Amino acid sequence: MSSTRFQDRTVIVTGAGSGIGRATAVQLAEESARVIGVDVSRSRLRSLEEELGDAVLTVDGDLTDQITIDRVLAHADSSVHGLANIAGIMDGFEPTAEIKDETWDRVLAVNLTAMMRLTRAVLPLMISAGGGSIVNVSSEAGLRGSAAGTPYTTSKHAVNGFTLSTAFFYTPHGVRCNAVAPGPVATNIEAPFRSEMAQRRLGPIMQATLPEIANADAPAAAIIWLLSDEASDVSGAIIPVDGGWAAI
Ligand SMILES: NC(=O)c1ccc[n+]([C@@H]2O[C@H](COP(=O)([O-])OP(=O)(O)OC[C@H]3O[C@@H](n4cnc5c(N)ncnc54)[C@H](O)[C@@H]3O)[C@@H](O)[C@H]2O)c1
Repeated sequence: MSSTRFQDRTVIVTGAGSGIGRATAVQLAEESARVIGVDVSRSRLRSLEEELGDAVLTVDGDLTDQITIDRVLAHADSSVHGLANIAGIMDGFEPTAEIKDETWDRVLAVNLTAMMRLTRAVLPLMISAGGGSIVNVSSEAGLRGSAAGTPYTTSKHAVNGFTLSTAFFYTPHGVRCNAVAPGPVATNIEAPFRSEMAQRRLGPIMQATLPEIANADAPAAAIIWLLSDEASDVSGAIIPVDGGWAAI
């Protein structure tokens, strides 16, 4: 699609090197946005630069490091109208009694704390720009207890709470905040079953209910709609983009 919904607008996209983040960055560039793409993988960002040219400015770094957030902000200015918090990692489907501290800490650091830190830094810019739109990527695991392990499920339910609270406080200041909750999407995310118990308990449920695996363009389109002025009256929504999985 070629349109100018994002003309003269800067949108920060995390996880822009792969999967849903990359699809979002590409669609935004096609719609004339100036994209700031952030990812921990330098090589993935290089490939995005090759595809998008001047439409993208990239920042390589781990978003759990404050220095990466600072570097993103150094490239942003009062034209930042959009923030798509997409970077995320899975757990190994661990049930509570099998959680390793390092898995818990890393999943929450990437999926939740990094999102909070970047959003906290960007909000004042959006307010001074006269408004903005933040879209967080939650998950089907943010809507139910049977789509991942406990660390990831916890992180995505927390993303929903973070989204609602941010919408509550900042919608009156012109900043909307929403989340999309994708079902299964074909990307590079690693999701190894590390628990026999989870395999036994989740396996049959997933086999019976899992919808078709979507292309990353599908959640990206929903993210872009929420970033755009077409969604000007939408704030505080957690939207399943999951082929109907949440309806089961
Ligand atoms: N793929 C699915 O089935 C699915 C379903 C529901 C939700 N999600 C969510 O969608 C989001 C995007 O995932 P994806 O499936 O596109 O995965 P992906 O692995 O293809 O892309 C994620 C990108 O984020 C980057 N990243 C990871 N940790 C980072 C960090 N600390 N700092 C900077 N960059 C980092 C990775 O390098 C990668 O390029 C995640 O939040 C994920 O939880 C994915």
